[in-house]
Amino acid sequence: MKICIVGTGYVGLVVGACLAETGNEVVGADVDVGKIEKLKRNELPIFEPGLDRLVERNQAAGRLCFTQDVGSAVANADVVFIAVGTPPDEDGSADLRHVLAVAETIGRNMTRELVVVTKSTVPVGTAARVAETVGRYARQPFHIVSNPEFLKEGAAVDDFMKPDRVVLGAETDHARSCMAELYAPFVRTGKPIIFMDIASAELTKYAANAMLATRISFMNDIANLCERVGANVDMVRRGIGSDERIGSAFLFPGPGYGGSCFPKDVRALSQTARSHACELRILEAVQAVNDDQKRRLVGKLKIALGSDLRGAHVAIWGLAFKPNTDDMRESPSLVLIEELLASGASVVAHDPVAMAEAEHRLGDRVTFAPSSYDALEGADALVVVTDWNEYRHPDFARIKESLRRPVIIDGRNLYALDRMQRMGFTYHSIGRGAVN
Ligand SMILES: NC(=O)c1ccc[n+]([C@@H]2O[C@H](COP(=O)([O-])OP(=O)(O)OC[C@H]3O[C@@H](n4cnc5c(N)ncnc54)[C@H](O)[C@@H]3O)[C@@H](O)[C@H]2O)c1
Repeated sequence: MKICIVGTGYVGLVVGACLAETGNEVVGADVDVGKIEKLKRNELPIFEPGLDRLVERNQAAGRLCFTQDVGSAVANADVVFIAVGTPPDEDGSADLRHVLAVAETIGRNMTRELVVVTKSTVPVGTAARVAETVGRYARQPFHIVSNPEFLKEGAAVDDFMKPDRVVLGAETDHARSCMAELYAPFVRTGKPIIFMDIASAELTKYAANAMLATRISFMNDIANLCERVGANVDMVRRGIGSDERIGSAFLFPGPGYGGSCFPKDVRALSQTARSHACELRILEAVQAVNDDQKRRLVGKLKIALGSDLRGAHVAIWGLAFKPNTDDMRESPSLVLIEELLASGASVVAHDPVAMAEAEHRLGDRVTFAPSSYDALEGADALVVVTDWNEYRHPDFARIKESLRRPVIIDGRNLYALDRMQRMGFTYHSIGRGAVN
């Protein structure tokens, strides 16, 4: 099939490369000229495991190419995916400017019967606006599909290649059969393609992210209670996670959820509800808990070092909002760093892949260390923010030797309490008793 993907960000690039891998002819189109030029040279604008090889292989095979000419890419396609950003508007609702601009480009440039697929996360009712916009200019029939994307950054290629399910909101036979054919190679193990009406598909994406964010905030709330009553949240997590009705995923407490999706999607869903005179009270609480949680690491640092952080020198391990990505959008590390700098502390940070992105955001207000151990030299404390694998089993003797004071604030509960105790660290984690 001839496919055009408009938007070559995290989602568009992964979707395009994976669809090319299964034999389709894919054109990735983007208005960001610099990004397109780099992609043509197989230089990826993002870090995503396995994606570089996929892009290189499929470009070499002639199945994948990139262009800034969105119109001509649309003109040659049977299926167009809209995968542009939907950033939050001032009131938290999704800003649909990019999506609707692409819809207009599609209407103006399509040359044949077309399936128009919205991959971007968009609020209920957007498909109707996309249809209306395309229809204003189109001279050929077209079919609207809502196909929300559930990939996780850091495991995006695997998630797209082996999805738990594919959700498709489609209302014509042509759209349904076209999408079923496109996705057939990815669901060979029997994972379901769930066809539904378009509004339900649009809402499913937000409901999924809202549920996951709710689990995280719920566990962070429980973790805070654990600290008060002398319980250990890791035990509580295992105790409840083994109940099949609950399940063990997404029960890890931490420094608050971040990233490009959960914060904005939870806000957008709340806003959708409000605009329909319906209040999602649980989601309001989920966001408030998360905002507080992002500030808890500084609170713990103040307990360990004293409430006046002026002059303190703090080492941070992990800047990305989660491991295996360089994405720092709404990362808890940013809240921590801003609070530390505002308190008069200085910050030295390490991250295996996100330091270029962090430097772009923070400039020279933070020092970046070439290795995790370099970051520790002369620091008053280490704060672990992202659970990268390389931080899981460090050389604790070396950490102790390098730090000016043996203080670790662990936002991810990576280290065993008894070990921290034995080694004489002052150790604060999330939902577990403080040590020393
Ligand atoms: N990142 C994720 O993990 C993820 C997962 C599922 C769904 N989503 C959703 O997918 C959508 C895209 O997210 P992303 O993270 O890939 O965004 P992104 O910001 O990484 O990429 C968006 C791309 O769209 C391009 N673009 C903007 N306007 C354009 C236009 N008019 N024509 C052509 N290109 C244009 C931008 O230049 C950019 O390259 C969002 O709605 C997001 O919520 C993201």
